[in-house]
Amino acid sequence: MPERLHLVVAERDDLTAAVARFVLRDPDGAALPGYRGGAHVTVTTPSGQRRSYSLVDPGGRAPQQYVICVRRDPGGRGGSVSMHDDVHPGDVLEVTWPANNFALKRAKRYLFIAGGIGITPIRAMVGELRARGGAQIELLYLTRSAEETAFLDEFSEDGTLLHHSATSGRLDLWPHLEHPDDDTRIYCCGPTALIEEVLALTAHWRPSRVHVEDFAGVDALGGRRTPFTAVWAPTGQRIEVPADKSLLNSLRSGGVDVDGSCESGTCGTCRLRLLAGEADHRDLVLTGQERADHVMPCVSRALSQEITVAPTAP
Ligand code: FES
Repeated sequence: MPERLHLVVAERDDLTAAVARFVLRDPDGAALPGYRGGAHVTVTTPSGQRRSYSLVDPGGRAPQQYVICVRRDPGGRGGSVSMHDDVHPGDVLEVTWPANNFALKRAKRYLFIAGGIGITPIRAMVGELRARGGAQIELLYLTRSAEETAFLDEFSEDGTLLHHSATSGRLDLWPHLEHPDDDTRIYCCGPTALIEEVLALTAHWRPSRVHVEDFAGVDALGGRRTPFTAVWAPTGQRIEVPADKSLLNSLRSGGVDVDGSCESGTCGTCRLRLLAGEADHRDLVLTGQERADHVMPCVSRALSQEITVAPTAP
């Protein structure tokens, strides 16, 4: 289980009609656990859902506050609407320690591509790199319109290529991605369509140079689904996973307490060890190497008739 904090909402304001910014602090003014750009925290919303949000300020060892931005998504599963409608200054929220699946790796040059609310981790990463100095940074920030652009003023004056599709159409990314360069790392965060486009246009790049974070995540019950049996290694309990239920929810129904947050394969919270059997990996978190002995049960299933899983820590 990730460690939890109880933080007070010190400030709340609206960056756009749909994006609200929340500043979270320790009620007694204590410093908070440190983090690096690209990190996220998981917040328990007043509606009881757990949702992961990127920390938008540059990281540090002992920050005084965490700042998150939440885009209201009326068609979503309710977490963002609850954050918008039910969270007010003075409220206390349960928040996990920061985790980071989108960490900055060393490079001479960085190309950041942010789509919409995907600017949130990238703002922290760019801020951190600029403070450190020495690296060449290019940022493409794609939104629908100026009105829907969080941090518009900030990114209007710092050399960012701001592109609004409502007035300028789709941005052609090819000129930015045409020439592979081992000294460059690409970080892209945004909607699935943008991620897929960037991955397609960088197929000729070395995979280790391209990093993506997909907020939309994976549909837990999408794609091919067949029933299988999960064996919970600590007790030997056998749990049937039907075609219409995720491995995570089947384990929970069987009385196994497995933590989860995004339930869409993006946050890394539900990670289990894979001890036996063949997993059908669908997450956006694990590296190819990690997939040999780990599985994300919120979205991944089994290719074999049975898989054996265990917690990552005893
Ligand atoms: S709960 Fe987020 S990856 Fe599984």
